[in-house]
Amino acid sequence: MTTDAADGPLAWWQEAVFYQIYPRSFADSDGDGVGDLAGIRTRLADLAWLGVDALWISPFFRSPMADFGYDVSDYCDVDPLFGDLADFDALVADAHGLGMRVVIDWVPNHTSDQHPWFVDASSSRDSPRRDWYVWRDPTPDGSPPNNWVAAFDLTAPAWTFHEPTGQWYLHLFESAQPDLNWDEPAVEAAMHDTLRFWLDRGVDGFRADVVHGIGKDPALPDDPPEVAGVPHCALNDVPVTHERLRSIRTLVDGYPGERMMVGEVFLLTTEAVATYYGHDDELHLAFNFPPLFAPWLADRWRACIEDTQAALDPRDAWPTWVLSNHDNPRHRTRYDRAAARAGEDAATAAVRSGARARAAAVLLLTLRGTPFVYQGDELGLTDADVPKDRVVDPGGRDGCRAPIPWDATPDHGWPTRPGVVPWLPIAPGADVANRASEAADPGSVLHLYRRAIALRHRSPALSRGSCTLRDAPDGVLAYRRRHGDEVVDVLVNFDGADVTLEDRSLLGASLLLDSGDAGPPAAFTGVLGADRAVVLRH
Ligand code: NOJ
Repeated sequence: MTTDAADGPLAWWQEAVFYQIYPRSFADSDGDGVGDLAGIRTRLADLAWLGVDALWISPFFRSPMADFGYDVSDYCDVDPLFGDLADFDALVADAHGLGMRVVIDWVPNHTSDQHPWFVDASSSRDSPRRDWYVWRDPTPDGSPPNNWVAAFDLTAPAWTFHEPTGQWYLHLFESAQPDLNWDEPAVEAAMHDTLRFWLDRGVDGFRADVVHGIGKDPALPDDPPEVAGVPHCALNDVPVTHERLRSIRTLVDGYPGERMMVGEVFLLTTEAVATYYGHDDELHLAFNFPPLFAPWLADRWRACIEDTQAALDPRDAWPTWVLSNHDNPRHRTRYDRAAARAGEDAATAAVRSGARARAAAVLLLTLRGTPFVYQGDELGLTDADVPKDRVVDPGGRDGCRAPIPWDATPDHGWPTRPGVVPWLPIAPGADVANRASEAADPGSVLHLYRRAIALRHRSPALSRGSCTLRDAPDGVLAYRRRHGDEVVDVLVNFDGADVTLEDRSLLGASLLLDSGDAGPPAAFTGVLGADRAVVLRH
């Protein structure tokens, strides 16, 4: 299966490598143990050195923090924990000055229950904003209006009964995150205004949170019994959302400078996700979750690539690739846990864990489509071990949100005021796996990411070329990227043993990148080492 090379000019977000910043855990400027916008500014030069083109910054808006910022109480202001609007403007100016774009989160499906809109809506059934949220009368037997399940606690209904006004309200996530009712034109208009607010301030785009949720079936039908226990946010998929996305697209495209929106469409198949690109008139990009959940197995990755090509190519839609984010264990941790479950012993894990993380970096950065690097993956971090008494997230996602270790000092760049500790513990191994130590070591994962990003940027085959899956021995994934005369082969060995490749045409090809080596480029010998990924040019 081949995907054609892009012929015309690409948009910046097609050629960009994105880097996700989770601001609470990136860098702290004021010693309160929580990262902030001024902290991010101090590290922008490090990100420019890494070579990333665009930053996606997770929420920093005013919020009671029931979901650490994904419960917004004012879309148009910065929470004092993170700074203020002047800090944000300075951050954007600095990032732009360093040649990096800035994309921010936008949370259109729900607000905080402390948002003035919900405070107003819940004050009385007669509130003029009552219909800005989704309310239903009690059922005769007192059960919730339908069987939808909320995220996080899969035993909890997606409804909370509001005693003072005697109705249920809908929330696909926590009860502190009531769903907005986008059927109400005033909601759509108000949310459009929040986009304009940030576009006017110069952001380059948005990452739209659970954006497939902004349309709901007005009949609110039960989810079918065969998906019992699946949160409704992974099932909600109705036509009206596409109409709303087209309006949003018109708004965003109306601004100069190729503003963009990448949507979190948390549906379970790539085929379903693909429909949210519309016909180049809905989302510019959509996250594709099956690869994020795929195990470290060559045939599963091959299937992910095939599914992506099959779903996106007919629409001319541009893929995205994500290995980790703030909602899931880091990929290194996921692969390690799966290996441990399959019987990998500690001595083997000590060798293979790092090698897998390095090979995964080469995979992520050589696929056709826009890669998103989650902060800390470039350091090869694993999840932190978070003791029960320090777990703070309702979804238990604390481990992947550990503060970034900046150096080998005892506080790893998180000096705090007396009596304060960083909001989460730092991941293990930070004496070595930290930014400063890795920057000083050309063999580090950090340098591998930097080399892979630089290679992607200077290779039209990698950044925009066609992609063809190739035959390969068991345990190996092979694909060819081609643009004009440039032909680049990528081989990823997912197994813990060396593989000798039969394909003689690869012998002597120049080795552009080797996940296991920091050395000067050499010629390929035909043997692909264990847990190793290589990039070859013919
Ligand atoms: C997806 C976000 O990535 C996640 O962190 C959040 O909890 C939910 N949406 C709800 O906003």
